[in-house]
Amino acid sequence: TRRIRTRDLLAAKERGEKWSMLTSYDQYTASVFDSAGIPVLLVGDSAANNVFGYETTLPVTAEELLPLVRAVVRATRQALVVGDLPFGSYEEGPTQALRTAVRFMKESGCHAVKLEGGRRFAAQIEAIVGAGIPVMAHVGFTPQREHTIGGYRVQGRGETADEVLDDARAVAEAGAFAVVLEMVPGDVAKRVTAELPIPTVGIGAGPETDAQVLVWQDMAGLRTGRAPRFVKRYADLAEVLGEATRRFADEVRGGEFPAAEHTF
Ligand code: KIV
Ligand code: NA
Repeated sequence: TRRIRTRDLLAAKERGEKWSMLTSYDQYTASVFDSAGIPVLLVGDSAANNVFGYETTLPVTAEELLPLVRAVVRATRQALVVGDLPFGSYEEGPTQALRTAVRFMKESGCHAVKLEGGRRFAAQIEAIVGAGIPVMAHVGFTPQREHTIGGYRVQGRGETADEVLDDARAVAEAGAFAVVLEMVPGDVAKRVTAELPIPTVGIGAGPETDAQVLVWQDMAGLRTGRAPRFVKRYADLAEVLGEATRRFADEVRGGEFPAAEHTF
């Protein structure tokens, strides 16, 4: 086995083969996902919510994310690991963006970086790709821009479909190797996927994208409560872990744990 490369993802698109991506923020999940054959793992800035407990993705920093990216890289053999550039680390311009991307590559060993933005961030993508660092772009709904977008809202409905298309075209032209389409109508995602030479990775973008991504705690049901409509829960980890935890506590209380076989 060898590492997945960006060219493998392009070849998959040409063959019409769909693939999946999950977020990961630590060694055990990274190792499970890698062994299960997930070709791309994203250490998302969604660690802000899912690891650090912030309300939004805005506060998380490179200092907080980099150790998580390192852990995921160390725990995997096959997956292409993408480090997500946090809010504030690339917006100032190509120089800042390249500096941050280089830092991610050097300090974490990740194989690509991701940033949010379409047309308005094409110069950043060009600078990073020009330095030899693969970039995954992210258009449609972009959580780092939720305050200008006005909340978690589907992007590209009706007449604004062309804006999503223009953003996707711009990032592909700037050299991105793939683009995340978040919360866009299925027919728009289909058009983008048909037109773009690079793979599209959908989240809340319907079934026609080249790939699909979910936040792992959503996919595995570790996050409880109301999930967005695009989430499918493939397990109920919150229930499994809660049950194990209650049994552990019960057995300690009842003097059943530790037993003789656990005792030196
Ligand atoms: O940070 C993240 O988890 C993401 C994916 C949902 C694409 O950006
Ligand atoms: Na993200």
